Amino acid sequence: MKKVHVKSYGCQMNVYDAERMADVLAAQGYEETPSVDDADLVILNTCHIREKAAEKVYSELGRIRENKAVRARQGLETRVVVAGCVAQAEGAEIMRRAPVVDVVVGPQSYHRLPELLAARNRDAAIDIEFPVEDKFRALPARRNGAEGRNVSAFLTIQEGCDKFCTFCVVPYTRGAETSRPVAALLEEAKRLVGLGVKELTLLGQNVNAWHGEGPDGKTWSLGRLLRRLADIDGVERLRYTTSHPRDMDDELIAAHRDVPQLMPYLHLPVQAGSDRILAAMNRRHTADDYRRIIDRVRAARPDIALSSDFIVGFPGETDADFAETMRLVNDVRFASAFSFKYSARPGTPAADREDQLPEDVKSARLAELQAALERDRIAFNQAMTGRVIEVLVDRKGRAAGQMAGKSPYLQGVHFEAPEAIFGAVAVVEVLEATAGSLRARYLGVKGASALGGGAFHQASAAPYSGAAQGIANAT
Ligand code: SAH
Ligand code: SF4
Ligand code: F3S
Repeated sequence: MKKVHVKSYGCQMNVYDAERMADVLAAQGYEETPSVDDADLVILNTCHIREKAAEKVYSELGRIRENKAVRARQGLETRVVVAGCVAQAEGAEIMRRAPVVDVVVGPQSYHRLPELLAARNRDAAIDIEFPVEDKFRALPARRNGAEGRNVSAFLTIQEGCDKFCTFCVVPYTRGAETSRPVAALLEEAKRLVGLGVKELTLLGQNVNAWHGEGPDGKTWSLGRLLRRLADIDGVERLRYTTSHPRDMDDELIAAHRDVPQLMPYLHLPVQAGSDRILAAMNRRHTADDYRRIIDRVRAARPDIALSSDFIVGFPGETDADFAETMRLVNDVRFASAFSFKYSARPGTPAADREDQLPEDVKSARLAELQAALERDRIAFNQAMTGRVIEVLVDRKGRAAGQMAGKSPYLQGVHFEAPEAIFGAVAVVEVLEATAGSLRARYLGVKGASALGGGAFHQASAAPYSGAAQGIANAT
């Protein structure tokens, strides 16, 4: 059997796409291997969002070329595919710069991988079109492989972006916004639940802009879709990412109030706290608009925790602008966050501006921002101590006899418990917050009457009350 190794960079949508590529290739007789050394086919599923992400591709291709030479001496062939957003952005240029590459395929054309691999010349081995044809329809069903025991799964519901923030490559690499229809999503969700999946994370570059066709022929919003998915037997947890503040509509906020499976954790990127910079970024909302949205979400779901993305050092950002970002952080108190130095991306409007900031200014601002975000993340985690929370058990812990899983806030939680609870929602009491995770005492499985389900029901009805404060990790 031939072996394929897929290496993914970038966002969760790439992780989802990587699984779909493995599906397509499984139908062609390829099995997945975790090691690049014994792969007959190596796929780099790339990210173009920042300069560093894009550069990784070429250094990785250098390593693959050496590996290919070693394998060739053993009489083994190695073929190389570049997929994802760098493939889309650079196309044939990749093959010119890196002759080791056999196929270049953009994110909309994975279903054509078998044909591209069979292509007789290099021109025919490039596909970076945005076909009208729906790649999801053409992708084969998920196979019953190792992921059969996955407790959490991604489900891409929306792709592409029409927002054109002036710093961002996504509208160019992923194309225009498209929403998958409800029927296809319900079918995929049911199939995943049938494989043992308990937690679905709905994905989209702009997930809350999703507006798919419902079975009634009408256009549904994300709030309505979440309610429908929550009705599927076996769906214990729902999440969605990444959202845009402008698309937090009333129906979605109401779903946070009404749908118990929707986890009280919202990733809502704001990027900056200065209205002048937000306007220059073309975000089309102000910092106070963002504060008001957070107020409404918290009113609907008081135990909700927030996370966000930030860019520091956007062209023209002054000390006063940056101070507004710090003020926003201090107002909201995020449980977690990602923060980045602005990286000029070819072809985006902000890259052409003449008021680019020096690297040292960006670095200093990033350090200050990350210190505040880290302070809030630690405070949030420490405030969990003593609380009774629910944990979706998705793996064994590091130590013998330990199991581990995720809290509603995506914190890793470790505790001693029988292995048989894999895949269940456990009720635990948090003992301590360590640097990267929570240590807890196992109380029982949610809803298990022998363990005193009534009491746990009560315990779990109000376990996350208290100030929804805190924040997360800065990368
Ligand atoms: N669709 C999401 C974000 C997708 S990209 C949204 O609208 O929020 C993920 C994050 O990468 C962004 O939120 C932003 O913080 C960061 N990012 C995007 N382009 C960037 C750039 N040119 N330089 C630095 N960070 C960038
Ligand atoms: Fe990029 Fe803005 Fe679209 Fe997010 S909303 S993907 S940041 S253009
Ligand atoms: Fe990167 Fe493309 Fe995702 S640029 S962040 S892999 S959409």
